[in-house]
Formats: sequence, C-alpha cells, structure tokens
Amino acid sequence: MKILMVTSEAVPFAKTGGLADAVSALSIALSKQGHDVRIVMPRYYKIDRSKLEHIPGPMGVHPGYQEIWTGVYQGALPDSTVPVYFIDHEQSFGRDGVYGVPGETDFNDNPQRFSLLGHAAFQLCRKIQWYPDVIHAHDWAAALAPILLKFNERKGEFAKTASVFTIHNIGYQGVYGKHLFPYTGLSWDNFYAAGFEDWDRMNFLKAALVSSDKLTTVSPTYAKEIQRPEYGFRMDGILRYRSTDLVGILNGVDTDIWNPGKDQLIPVQYTAKTLDKKKANKEALQKKMGLPVDPDVPIIGIITRLADQKGVSELFGPAYGSVWRMCSDIKLQMAVLGAGEAWCEAELKSLSANLPNFKAYVGYDESLSHLIEAGSDFFLMPSRYEPCGLNQMYSLLYGTLPIVRNTGGLADTVQNYNEQTGEGTGFILENLTPQSIYDTVGWAAYAWFNKKEHILAMQKRAMASEFGWDTSAKRYEDVYKSALSRLS
Ligand code: ADP
Ligand code: GLC
Repeated sequence: MKILMVTSEAVPFAKTGGLADAVSALSIALSKQGHDVRIVMPRYYKIDRSKLEHIPGPMGVHPGYQEIWTGVYQGALPDSTVPVYFIDHEQSFGRDGVYGVPGETDFNDNPQRFSLLGHAAFQLCRKIQWYPDVIHAHDWAAALAPILLKFNERKGEFAKTASVFTIHNIGYQGVYGKHLFPYTGLSWDNFYAAGFEDWDRMNFLKAALVSSDKLTTVSPTYAKEIQRPEYGFRMDGILRYRSTDLVGILNGVDTDIWNPGKDQLIPVQYTAKTLDKKKANKEALQKKMGLPVDPDVPIIGIITRLADQKGVSELFGPAYGSVWRMCSDIKLQMAVLGAGEAWCEAELKSLSANLPNFKAYVGYDESLSHLIEAGSDFFLMPSRYEPCGLNQMYSLLYGTLPIVRNTGGLADTVQNYNEQTGEGTGFILENLTPQSIYDTVGWAAYAWFNKKEHILAMQKRAMASEFGWDTSAKRYEDVYKSALSRLS
C-alpha cells in the first residue's frame, strides 16, 4: 500500500510532543511491513537544508486566493528508507517554532501556514508522480488534507485515495475566526458541508472529524472517553455519531531508543535479570540533580510538558499543589524535568530552591530524560487526560513503577497494585486532586519501604511489558483497508 503521512512534526526533524515520536515510529513499522510510506511536513527554519536533497524546480500551490511558490526538499527518517518531503516556504515556515515560539501564544497565521501544508501534500504527489492509496493525517495542523481530498481532490489520480485522520490530542483543535476561512481554498459551501463551522468560528479538527473516511486515536480507552462530554472537548457528539468509524490503537515504543539494556544515554545498562545495576543510575541521577546521594529513599521522577493536561496545577500550583506537602511529609525525593507554562517553570525553580529533596531542571533535555527513567524508583504522571502517553511506557520498560491517573492510555498500559497478591505494575489514582496524588504517592512510598518483595516482582513484570510497534502497525493496516473498501 502507498501511504502518505501528513504531519506538522516528526522526529528527529521537529518535535513538540509525543506526536512526533508516534508518526516516525509508525511510518518505519509500516515500511518494514512492506508498505511504501512517505511523510510530508514543513521545512521549519531549524531543519538544515544543506543536509537534504533539493527536488528541482519551484512547486506552485494554489489554495485559491493566490498562487504560492514553494520549494521541496527530500530527506529520510534515520536508519530507514522512509522518504520525508519538506515543504519549503520562507514566509510560512522560515522561523523558529512549530506552532509558535515556546512560552508565547501561537502564531496568528497558523491557519494560512497549515492550509498551505494541506494543499502542498497534493501538489507534492503530482510533482513526484506518486499517488497514495491512503492519506493519513495527524492532528489539526494536518487536518486540511483529508478535507480537501473529500471536497476538491478526489478525482483523477486521487479518485481511489482514502483518508484516515488520527487524533493524538483532542484538546488542540485549530479554532480561528471565520474571516480566515478563505485561506483554506475551499468554497463557503464547505464551511458547513465539511463541518468547519463551530459557533460561527472555523475549526480544523472538527472538519477533519466530519470529512475523513476513518478516524483513529492513540489508545482504546481514549477512543471511548472522547465520546463523552467530559473528555470530548465539545467534539463528543460528532464522535458518537462516527463511533463505528473510530478506532483506538495504542502507540508503541521505539525500543532501539528506550531499552535499559542498551541505552547509551545512561551510565549503567541493566535488564530485569541485572536489576541491581539500576542503583548506579539512581546515584548518578541524585548527583546530577543535586539531590542528597542516598540509596534508601525512593525517587519519584517526572518528565512532562508543563501544560494543564498533565495535572501540573494539582502538582505544583502555589498554595494548593500536592508537591510541597508530599516532599515535606513523606520520605522521598523528586526529580523533575519539564518546560512549558511560565508560572509553572517559575514554581519549579522556587520549589527546587526551597526543598532539599525536590530538584527540577527547567528545559528540554533528551539525555536527562533517559537518566530520570533509569534512576528513579517511581514515575508520576497524574494527567487530567492522556490520549496515549509515552513516558509511562518507558517507565515500565525501565522498571520504574508508574503512578498514574486512571485515564486514556495510562489506564490501558498500567495495572494497579494489589496489596494482597502483590500483582500489578504501578499505582493508579482515580480523581485528579492534590489530595489523591498525595495519597497515592504515599501509598507507593509505603510499599517501597515495607513490601520490598512486591516492588521487585512488579518491576520485573513491568519490564516484561510488550509495546512493539509491529502489532499497532498491523492494526493501522486494517484501518487503511477498511477505509479503502468504502471507495470500491
Ligand atoms: P505529550 O505528547 O502529550 O507531551 P507523551 O507522553 O506522548 O506526551 O510524549 C512526550 C514526549 O516528550 C516523551 O518522549 C517525553 O520523554 C518527551 N518530553 C517531554 N518533556 C520533555 C523535556 N522537558 N525534556 C525531554 N523530553 C521531554
Ligand atoms: C499527544 C498526547 C499523548 C500521545 C501523543 C502521541 O501528544 O498528548 O498522550 O502519546 O500525542 O500519540
């Protein structure tokens, strides 16, 4: 099958979150299964043109209001044959930031920028004379591709092309004033027909939910949750209507990168059989973060975007967050890595300065993220909602027991501890409140001090978890086939 992935991010070229990991890893897994997978994305300022191949000639893109001349560069995902096509347009993408400058509001020309991406996807296929069986678009920034396919492009070489749209995070929808609608290049009839209209504004995600042949999201539980008002971000009605076309497929983990047995970013490699060596990583983490070196105190690790989705108010909120109390009352240490909302970054710095057993690094740091996974005893992720979540899976593979909320992909990957039998792979909290985070962390710490044999068995069980992409890629293949069967 020929599959075109349309996306605003893909590792290693551009990443703001797990979307970038998921798109690249899925593409590689599908390609290993024999599919011809290609990716199209913007060439942001930081992506070095000199390392890419220039496809000769300018490429005209015609969204309707004017012709836009772009360049096309070609690269590939590392260690693979998956081609990545970069749309080069200085005015739209020749700046720092994917959706905006980190810490500031998003760019106000995002509707233009990502409409260009949608149109460019089709022009690219014409330019390279390669026509996909399936266009697979990810999140709102790629939403225009399936919409255009349905309303303008499904003819000629694209007559038999099906579309699949994956929701990585329904909290981000691309909602803008309708005066920007002409930038999509669609006729005003489509404002209603395609489902763009959203309380008199335009909503990219909503239109993709209405227009795509098949919808997927990144865990089975999240697929159910987003059909309910409390998780649907106002899209629950449409998703209930389309429920037979919506499938939840859990993301996998790239185990070449996240494998404690061969991870070169940690000081000492270990496996379930040599779990004792994990202690050396704990010591390294304590030293690196400036925590007292002490093997006899549990370390709770956190790696996160500092965004409301992740429960950061309940953790770090001044006056009511649980961290201050946790670090004062319970014998534990915390090692935190995060970047995002300014108030929260400031709070992390202040907690680090005032608590001897709490240390945070504010910023983005790939290698520290590996050390936190390897050196911590527990990993805390009390998300308000979590479509899939990658870090709890990394934690399981590193024998670092996750403490998570019972939602989305967290619920699908972590089994709660049973004090009687010792079963489980982590600790689960139901409600997102500072008190329940405090209680559950306290429960985990209690088990660490008093139920050593349970903890050890849980670590080994967790490390045996299977999160390969192969199974997930097979399920995407089924979705593609079912989308295509609609057209014949
Ligand atoms: P989301 O995409 O919602 O942020 P995921 O758990 O799916 O959540 O993916 C987050 C990814 O980003 C993980 O690979 C995680 O390790 C990484 N990450 C998040 N924040 C940081 C940070 N400050 N430094 C390094 N890696 C980070
Ligand atoms: C989003 C979600 C996260 C998921 C990732 C990859 O960023 O917030 O839960 O793991 O997409 O699908």
